[in-house]
Amino acid sequence: MSEATPAVSEQQRQVEEELIRTVLASFADTPDQRLKQLMQSLVRHLHGFIRDVRLTEDEWQRAVDFLTAAGHITDDRRQEFVLLSDVLGASMQTINVNHEAEGDATEATVVGPFFVDGAPEIAIGGDMVGGAPGEPCWVEGAVTDTDGNPVAGARLDVWEADEDGFYDVQYGPDRTAGRGHLFTDDAGHYAFWGLTPTPYPIPHDGPVGALLEKTGRSPLRASHLHFMATAPGLRTVITHIFVDGDQLLTQDAVFGVKDSLVKKFDRQEPGTPTPDGRPLTDMSWTRVRFDIVLRRT
Ligand code: BEZ
Ligand code: FE
Repeated sequence: MSEATPAVSEQQRQVEEELIRTVLASFADTPDQRLKQLMQSLVRHLHGFIRDVRLTEDEWQRAVDFLTAAGHITDDRRQEFVLLSDVLGASMQTINVNHEAEGDATEATVVGPFFVDGAPEIAIGGDMVGGAPGEPCWVEGAVTDTDGNPVAGARLDVWEADEDGFYDVQYGPDRTAGRGHLFTDDAGHYAFWGLTPTPYPIPHDGPVGALLEKTGRSPLRASHLHFMATAPGLRTVITHIFVDGDQLLTQDAVFGVKDSLVKKFDRQEPGTPTPDGRPLTDMSWTRVRFDIVLRRT
């Protein structure tokens, strides 16, 4: 019981605890032992929460209304429940629990709602921007396993928002820009042109946005570029890289930032020769290195 919780009488405590015992017992014969564990632990924590805050009936009704609104706004393209899990840190904690830290293996972070299967293939050194507005960014690195062996032919899916803070799919179903996939060469290297990441808000026109507003939280995500790296025999990692120096690193709306994923994006003056000879005489560009380390399955 927290310090703020009003004390209840012994008679009242017995009533509340008796109910918990009864609900726990109702799951006692669940044939699937894992489901039984999940349900009984959920009951313990949920009742613990209700008793801790002494939940009022009005608050309970408002919670039901909130979940109902989340259901109403959810469809094939909008998933408000995942968004809720994201802003509560539940998505990141589930990732933490399932991707235990291991040496220098690349850390995972949230997938987000904007991954699209089947994005176009680009060659090494190719352009995934597809006409989206923003400052060009040369992204390069190598994929290795945790023993340092290069991983040839690893598939990298990459996707990001444009400088206006929108992913291609947010403009409508017919646009493909700011996404693609490529494969590492024989030495495990990759490189491509993307955009310097800029901050953007998570979808905040629904109940989750209202919750953020009421709690004085920002819907902004720290600037990032998404990666998914896959290779046979190695564990897929879904992650992002973040921009060193971004003010939002400590306030990311979905708690996705990990120190190991914060990278230096080096800004180059207009006219600085580019790695592949691309002429960029009238605009600045950035470059970043991201080495990916995959663990064994
Ligand atoms: C994103 O990075 O695209 C994202 C992640 C979580 C919630 C919303 C958006
Ligand atoms: Fe994103």
